[in-house]
Amino acid sequence: MNVLVTAGPTREPIDPVRFLTNRSSGKMGYAVAEAFAKAGHTVLLVSGPTSLDVPDYVDFVPVTTAAEMHEVVGHHLKRMDIAVFVAAVADYTPAKVAPQKIKKEGDSLMLELVKTKDILGSARGEFGFAGTLVGFAAETENLEANARRKLTGKGCDLVVANDVSEEGRGFDSHGNEVTLCFPDRTLELPHAPKSELAKDLVETILDLHLTKIST
Ligand code: PMT
Repeated sequence: MNVLVTAGPTREPIDPVRFLTNRSSGKMGYAVAEAFAKAGHTVLLVSGPTSLDVPDYVDFVPVTTAAEMHEVVGHHLKRMDIAVFVAAVADYTPAKVAPQKIKKEGDSLMLELVKTKDILGSARGEFGFAGTLVGFAAETENLEANARRKLTGKGCDLVVANDVSEEGRGFDSHGNEVTLCFPDRTLELPHAPKSELAKDLVETILDLHLTKIST
C-alpha cells in the first residue's frame, strides 16, 4: 500500500525571530510511519519541525507551516491508498508576518490571527481522496463526542482520540492511550509505548482498508 502520514507540529511565523507552535514532538506520527514501513508498505512522511530521526525506508518531506503541509499533502494524496493525519496543525496563523523583529513598545500587543486550511478536512473534497482516511483528535474534554464530530465532519473512516489533559499520554510523552472511533463502534487501546501502540494501529488500519476495498 501507499501510505501518507502527517506528523509533528507546525510553526506559524510572527516575525523573523518568533513563531506560534504547540507541544507535538512527532513521536506518535513517526512511530506510525515506521510501523507501516516495517510491515512492508511504501510510506511518505510529511512532518513539521521535530528533533527525531526519519525512520528507515520512509520517504520524507519536511514542512514548517500549516500552509506548506496543506500544499505538500494536496500534491501527493490522490495516489495514496491510506492517509493517517497525526500532525498537530495550527488552527490559526498570524494574519501578517512582521518583516522586522517586533519591538517591545506598549503594555500589550494585539496579534491578529486567521484560520488555516483544514488539511484533513480538505482530503475528501478539495483533494479528491477516496482511500482509507484516518484522523487523530487531541482533546481535553468530551473525548469521544468531540472525536465523533471530527469523524463525520471530515469524512474519516476512523478517528484516533487521545485525552491530552492526562499526564503520560498525548503530546511529547513516551506512551499513549487512545480511543478508536469507527462509524459503527468504539475500541479502547490501553496505555502502551507509542511504538507498540503504532503497531496495533497499523494492523487495525490495514484491516479497515481491506474491508473497505472488498465491499
Ligand atoms: O507528536 P507527539 O508529541 O507524539 O503527540 C502526539 C499527538 C498528541 C500530537 C497526536 O496523538 C494527536 O493527537 N494528533 C492530532 C493533534 C491535533 O491537532 O488534533 P486536532 O483535534 O486539533 O485535529 C483533528 C485532526 O485534524 C488531526 O488529524 C489533525 O492532524 C487534523 N488537522 C487539524 C487542523 C488542520 N488545520 N489540519 C488538519 O489536518
